[in-house]
Amino acid sequence: MNKIQHDVVVIDAVRTAFGRAGEKGIFWKTRAEDLSVAVLKALIERNPKVKHDDVEDVIWGATNQIGEQGGTIGRMISMLADWGWDIPGCSIDRMCASGLTAAGFAVATIATGMADCLIAGGVEHMGHLPMGYMRNNHPRAEAAMGDASAFNMGLTAENIHDRFPEFTREMADRYAAACQKKADQAIRAGKMANMIVPLEVELADGTHMLADRDQHPRPTTTVETLAALKTPFRGTGGRVTAGNASGLNDGAAAVLLMSADKAAQLGVKPCMRWVSTGVAAVDPRIMGTAPVPATLNALKKAGLTIQDMDIIEVNEAFAVQALYDLDRLGIASDDPRVNIWGGAIAFGHPLASSGPRLIAFLRGLFRENPSARYGLTTMCVGRGQGYSMIWEKL
Ligand SMILES: CC(C)(COP(=O)(O)OP(=O)(O)OC[C@H]1O[C@@H](n2cnc3c(N)ncnc32)[C@H](O)[C@@H]1OP(=O)(O)O)[C@@H](O)C(=O)NCCC(=O)NCCS
Repeated sequence: MNKIQHDVVVIDAVRTAFGRAGEKGIFWKTRAEDLSVAVLKALIERNPKVKHDDVEDVIWGATNQIGEQGGTIGRMISMLADWGWDIPGCSIDRMCASGLTAAGFAVATIATGMADCLIAGGVEHMGHLPMGYMRNNHPRAEAAMGDASAFNMGLTAENIHDRFPEFTREMADRYAAACQKKADQAIRAGKMANMIVPLEVELADGTHMLADRDQHPRPTTTVETLAALKTPFRGTGGRVTAGNASGLNDGAAAVLLMSADKAAQLGVKPCMRWVSTGVAAVDPRIMGTAPVPATLNALKKAGLTIQDMDIIEVNEAFAVQALYDLDRLGIASDDPRVNIWGGAIAFGHPLASSGPRLIAFLRGLFRENPSARYGLTTMCVGRGQGYSMIWEKL
């Protein structure tokens, strides 16, 4: 078999601010395509040696591909960016990891020589298109997935608490409070400024503002305030709360990827190199456990161990999921390599945009940590999947 392999590098990664879903959200009157166009255009504007004509395809993640996120949004957005009709685009759905999978497909396309310059990204407007909106499940879907709890992500987190009772509500709240603290420190230190594309928006009341800050973080969070929160998914006996879960959010994020040769030819400086990808599937009722086999898979392909990872970006759909994943990968929940700037519990989780958001965080952290070599981005996915990518700092 012909094995062509080109080195794949990341040139840049950006995101919008993440808003809260709903009428009080900063993006209530902004469409998913416009969030997407903002990050698409920013990647070209920030990298003047790259022209939009260099982009050979736009690979776009979106979980709910109907309404404004339907109609092959990946193709629509390059035209809405006024880049003409010549840039193809497609849409990818692997639920929460749609955007990370878009990056994975971009990597595969470049590595095999099918393209030299691609943009991969993702968007989710959970305010306009709530989770599961208009989905029509197969009559056997529930039986195929185990039981009805597999459809409700909050219940899958409760299921992890049930099956692995060593991870308690107190631990989840402690983890969530620490996440909010790390996020607050990062925001105050200006770490988000370089990656957020500011966007002029109209709010529900008709006023305008510059959306350049995340809306979801709650810096005053403490273990005590978290302990008082209700458990909406299960009521009595539940452990998953609004405080130890990610939120319902709107946002977009994108990554500019190239072959190393193309980057050299254009004279742009890559920040990191793709090393390996691992995907895995598990019992959908405990979907949050899947980053473990996905990461082990990626590590095996790379010939590395978890101890080789200097920076670990794990998407926090739920605190209990992050606790489980880190523990089973042999990492302490407060390991200083993990979610150094905080994670989705603080920043929010606009599903398909979270993968590229993780890459943007890793890029920023690589820039600040000269001694770091390898980084991991990993996510769990509804319906029981995990997706992990390993990167090397250049
Ligand atoms: C958990 C969830 C249902 C909560 O939704 P919500 O009720 O709209 O959330 P809110 O932000 O209004 O928070 C609910 C309450 O908790 C409080 N709260 C939330 N986070 C808090 C924090 N960190 N500290 C203190 N209080 C907090 C809010 O102030 C609010 O209080 P109120 O009812 O007195 O106003 C929702 O965020 C959710 O479904 N998350 C999971 C998303 C998901 O499944 N994603 C896919 C993953 S695979």
